This record gives sequence, C-alpha cells and structure tokens, in this order.
Amino acid sequence: MIKNRILRRLIPAALMVSAVAVSRPAQAVNYQALVDADTKAFQSYFIKEFPEVKLADYANGVYALNEDSRRQWQEMEEFPPYELDIEAGKALFNKPFANGKSLASCFPDGGAVRGKYPYFDEKRKEVVTLEMAINECRVANGEQPWPGNKGDLAKVSAYMAYISRGQKVDVKVGSKAAYDAYLKGKAFFYGKRGQLNMSCSGCHMEYVGRNLRAEVVSPALGHTTHFPVFRSKWGEIGTLHRRYAGCNENIGAKPFPAQSEEYRNLEFFQTAMSNGLQYNGPASRK
Ligand code: HEC
Repeated sequence: MIKNRILRRLIPAALMVSAVAVSRPAQAVNYQALVDADTKAFQSYFIKEFPEVKLADYANGVYALNEDSRRQWQEMEEFPPYELDIEAGKALFNKPFANGKSLASCFPDGGAVRGKYPYFDEKRKEVVTLEMAINECRVANGEQPWPGNKGDLAKVSAYMAYISRGQKVDVKVGSKAAYDAYLKGKAFFYGKRGQLNMSCSGCHMEYVGRNLRAEVVSPALGHTTHFPVFRSKWGEIGTLHRRYAGCNENIGAKPFPAQSEEYRNLEFFQTAMSNGLQYNGPASRK
C-alpha cells in the first residue's frame, strides 16, 4: 500500500524529468573527457603495478621494467642498428618523384610531424596514421604506394620519427565519429580472439614483466611511442602494424593487413592511452 502511494507520487515526477530532458537541446558530449578518464585509469593500472617505474620510462617498452635487459639494450643503442635506415629514410624523403615534387613537399616542418599522428580526420571520418599519410602523398603525386609493414615505408617513418623525438603524445578525440573509431580500437584491444582466445590486454596488461617463451612481456603503456622498430628477429626495420600482425598470429588469430581500418583504430586507441609520454622512435628490439 505504502509502496503504491510512493510509486504514484514518483511516476509523474519521473515523467516530468523525461519531458524536460526531451525538450532541452542536445548537450554536446565531451568525448575528450571520456578518453582522458580512460587514459588516467589505464596509466594508473601500471603505476600501481610497477610503482618503481617512472611514467616517462614506459616509452622504452619492456626495458623500463628490467635492469639487466635494459643495460644490454643500452649497449645496443650505442651503435643503433636502425641508423642506416634513418639515413636511407632521409634520402627517400627528399628524393624527387617523377613529377619533381617529393615527400618533403607534403609535410610541414621538414617532416618533423610524428607528434601529429595518428589523428582522426573529421572530413574523411577515419584515423590517419603517419605511414598512411606517407603513402597518400606518393599516390597523390602519381607514385605507387609502398608495402605497409617494412622496407622504404618503415625507413621514411623512422627518419620522421627520429627528427621528431621528444614530441608529446597527444591524441585528440573531439567528435562522435572520432570516439566511435576510438571505441572500436578499444574493443579490439580488450577483445579475446584466436585459437588461444587471448586479448592484447591479457598479455600486455595482466602478464607484463613475466616470461613468455624467450621474451619478457612489455607493458601496453608506451607501445606506440617508439615505432618503427629494428628487430633483431626480423633482421630489419618494421612498422607498428607489422608487430600487431605478429601478435595476432602468435595467438592463432587472423592478422589484418597493415593500415587496415582495424589496426588504425587500434593504433588510435593505444596511442591515446600513452597521451603525455614522448615520442622516441625509432627503437631496437630483440
Ligand atoms: C600471448 C601473449 C600476447 C598477446 C595476446 C599479444 N601480445 Fe604483443 N607481444 C607479446 C610478446 C611476448 C612480445 C615481445 C616482447 C614485448 O612485449 O616487447 C610482444 C610485443 C608486442 C609489441 C612490441 C613492443 C615493443 O616495445 O616493441 C606490441 C606493440 C604488441 N606486442 C602489441 C600487441 C597488441 C596490440 C596485441 C593485441 C592485438 C598483442 N600485442 C597481443 C605477447 C603478446
């Protein structure tokens, strides 16, 4: 009885509330604030898990965690295996296309623009990565695009990353469409897949610092700051999307092509999680 009376009193109030909500003009959602909250929670996870690691150090991948492997890596970085790739990338960046223009004609600041990528293009409604922009410049000038995961594309990307070292990671999500792309990347990161039914987060959050076969698993925080990477196992330099494909294959999941929408959205999400760190590519890895 009492309950009924309360309900009767509440229902008109609820109706009024919804009527007000309908008549009010739609309020702009602050998508950036939603992403910032995610980033904060994501980074806090690692800060809590590894209180001794400085936040800026996550840009160094697994070497942020382990003193021994860090020392070996620092020795390797004294004569970096990617040095020749940076030189080659510089030459390719300035080499004239058949029409006389060059990659240098497409990018401002002499190509020191790593910090601007990836970004969400509001007109095209898609994530644009640095490698994608490089290839689009070539195509716009009548050249063939380069394969997306290694070779010349990775070399130019390495050169552009090198001259951009120290730029801040600052992914912006300013619209519903950008947020949708971000959410797709986020779902990819946390989604289980493959014969092993594992997610990126299952390894690169929950298994960080532990051994998996011969390797120590790196933290997902900072994953995108240092690419492209010269990997001893590859014997050459490769892009972030090449690594994505490798990790997908390792768990028996179908890899997506480099620069596919799936991997661009994943890169967009992963980079947003590293907001505030610095770009420090290219890098060397085992
Ligand atoms: C079964 C565990 C496992 C899963 C699942 C996995 N990875 Fe990895 N990943 C590794 C290992 C091991 C390495 C090599 C050591 C390391 O972490 O740097 C690696 C390396 C990487 C690297 C290179 C890190 C660097 O500093 O160069 C990136 C980036 C990466 N993974 C992203 C991903 C993403 C994104 C996913 C989900 C699509 C994923 N991985 C799924 C185990 C995994």
